Amino acid sequence: MVEELQRTKTGIQGLDKALNGGIPQGNIVLVSGGAGTGKSTLCLQFCINGATLFGEKALYISTEQNKKELYKQAASFNWNIESLEQRNLLKIIYFDVTDGDSFLEKLNALVEDFKPKRIVIDSLTTLTDAMLVSGVLDGQGFSMVQIAETVSPIPRSEKIIAKSVLYHLFKQLKKHEITSMLTTELPEDGKQLSADGVSEFIADGVFLLRGLNVGGTLSRTIDIRKMRYTPIDSSIKSYDLSKTGIILE
Ligand SMILES: Nc1ncnc2c1ncn2[C@@H]1O[C@H](COP(=O)(O)OP(=O)(O)OP(=O)(O)O)[C@@H](O)[C@H]1O
Ligand SMILES: [Mg+2]
Repeated sequence: MVEELQRTKTGIQGLDKALNGGIPQGNIVLVSGGAGTGKSTLCLQFCINGATLFGEKALYISTEQNKKELYKQAASFNWNIESLEQRNLLKIIYFDVTDGDSFLEKLNALVEDFKPKRIVIDSLTTLTDAMLVSGVLDGQGFSMVQIAETVSPIPRSEKIIAKSVLYHLFKQLKKHEITSMLTTELPEDGKQLSADGVSEFIADGVFLLRGLNVGGTLSRTIDIRKMRYTPIDSSIKSYDLSKTGIILE
């Protein structure tokens, strides 16, 4: 018997429809876009909808905005994240990449303890950049030099190292069948779908967010570039960033 595909609904109507019902459970989805396109808002909404509409626990890890800033962002959309945290449905964590703490260890501990159904990492770019700069893939006893040696005689390139870093992170997320959204900053003129140029190939799905100036007004669009295990409507859709969050009919 073919097992029925479990889906994680984003709770954003038009997006779930385009996904044929939701993101296949356990998928890792990249949320790619330029500055201010709404990546963090989409991810926060994914967590809040999960908690309020479906009673699913969500873990939001930010490497860019601290807790106070995220509370402020949520309040601007009238989302009461404090009450969701008190009800143990949502956990907001600020991870300071300059602290030198082990991200993978921290993630593992959080997942084992909180047991979320949804995870957001905002942003993947900051995190992988920090891992690359520090040269150590924490908790793995794994250094950049070692990674370079394992791929010899292929030239040691940043892409290969980024791929190894991502591989370990993705493996950790996959272990627990948690549906995840990871944000990545997209250069305006870039041909790739992520800042590192490799995570779009490893990820199960890619949402591409754009903000275009059309006749003096900002037109926001989203399209699903990829979503493994489900048919999708990949046409480009407009969305609004309204005072209640992202609206996509
Ligand atoms: N309460 C609100 N009502 C309507 N629009 C808002 C509100 N709050 C923020 N916005 C819009 O959302 C945009 C930023 O959204 P968000 O922070 O989710 O983007 P981002 O892609 O994560 O940005 P960054 O690249 O800086 O991380 C703002 O530039 C603003 O136009
Ligand atoms: Mg953001």
